[in-house]
Amino acid sequence: MKFDFPLDFLWGSACSSGQLEGSSYADGKGPNVWDHYSKTRPDLFKDASPDNCADFYTHYKDDIKLMKEMGMKIFRFSIAWARIFPEGPDKLNQKGIDYYNDLINTFTENGIKLMLDLFHCDLPMWVIDKGGIKSREFIGWFTKYAKVCFDNFGDRVYMWSTVNEPSLNVFAAYSIAFTGPYEKDFKAAVQASHNMLIAHFRTVKMYHSMNFGGKIGAVNYIGPYYTNSLDPADEAAAMRGMDDHSGWWVEPMMTGKYPESLVHYPKYAENMPENYAAELEYEFEKMDYIGINYYNPFFAVNDDKADLGFAGYADSTLPVDEYGFVQFAPGLYDTVMFLKEKYGNPEMYITENGVSMKREKFEEPTSTKDPYRIKHMREHMRACARCIQSGANLKGYMNWTIMDTYEGAAGYTCDFGLIQVDFVTKKRTPRDSYYFYSEVIKRNKIY
Ligand code: NOJ
Repeated sequence: MKFDFPLDFLWGSACSSGQLEGSSYADGKGPNVWDHYSKTRPDLFKDASPDNCADFYTHYKDDIKLMKEMGMKIFRFSIAWARIFPEGPDKLNQKGIDYYNDLINTFTENGIKLMLDLFHCDLPMWVIDKGGIKSREFIGWFTKYAKVCFDNFGDRVYMWSTVNEPSLNVFAAYSIAFTGPYEKDFKAAVQASHNMLIAHFRTVKMYHSMNFGGKIGAVNYIGPYYTNSLDPADEAAAMRGMDDHSGWWVEPMMTGKYPESLVHYPKYAENMPENYAAELEYEFEKMDYIGINYYNPFFAVNDDKADLGFAGYADSTLPVDEYGFVQFAPGLYDTVMFLKEKYGNPEMYITENGVSMKREKFEEPTSTKDPYRIKHMREHMRACARCIQSGANLKGYMNWTIMDTYEGAAGYTCDFGLIQVDFVTKKRTPRDSYYFYSEVIKRNKIY
């Protein structure tokens, strides 16, 4: 078999400031949720602080050289809100602006396009102290920060994303206390999601009005929901599962409406903000692309006793990586094709896709021999090619991630990197997958 890619296909890698930069207190940066909770909640973080990571903050010039040598066309990264506004919404930190200006210039000089996320899990602590995402004031804080980023960096950034994986970062932050403020309150989860959506719309509208000529969208964790049953009730349940998991975000971002299949269930109906539908419709501004973080598929069956009438389950016949992600490359194809049909073939990017290996000890990097990662990449790249052959407007593939990182509450226990990092010496060593990826990019095809 042979799969060619379009000449302008954007091969890349993705990472986030909170997981790669380190230097958590350098140049006036304020604490974010991870800096704070890793120090104050050892029960959750086992003392793994983001400050001990690869320290891209001080190594970026050499790291960008490695990216260039690999042939990377686009790097997806995020701006640390707490470097720009360390203490609150009023005091700007010029050193943060200067740092990102230099970083962006270095990427530009090396011919690598940038996709920048405004918010990738690293909420500044002051946002939480002032009421969190569930506070309506969040909308103003976020759009003010976004404007500063557009004013200062907008002329050189190829594409923006307002938020990364809000299903976890915003919704689950409150619904299951997945991340700070570790507050479990479903009504707050729904209100926070609504605020994030309004902030997203206003940011997209503002960016469009500034005429930089770039693109703006959002990045969502999206995977297909299957059912291994022929019962129509289970089939409907699977579709509802998908609406609940990713449709809760993608549907309003693309249409200005929450998924119809969910809002009438008491779980949502009783917790929605007043006039939510009219407000969403009024604020709606369509984004330019859908960012897809594809890791794994999901499975569901009907369950009349469950809040939303479905129950998820695991298909135990599928392999799982050492971090717990089910491995199933055809799910990437199904996800892209589902979005193509549903939203009229919008521009789409695989904004994350990767596989991890378990790091037993912080001091001991995992091997540079990573055939399982090469296999994973091959299979997912073939799936991308099949999407394009089937007419999908899929414009790029970004692997997660360029080098070993800090993985939120999981700390330093799973290595996703194309480049091995010794966190003690900060030494970087490219893995076999780095060289494999480099060859694929050069050839722009895969067999
Ligand atoms: C998605 C998140 O965006 C990223 O921060 C995380 O490291 C990867 N998933 C792997 O879990």
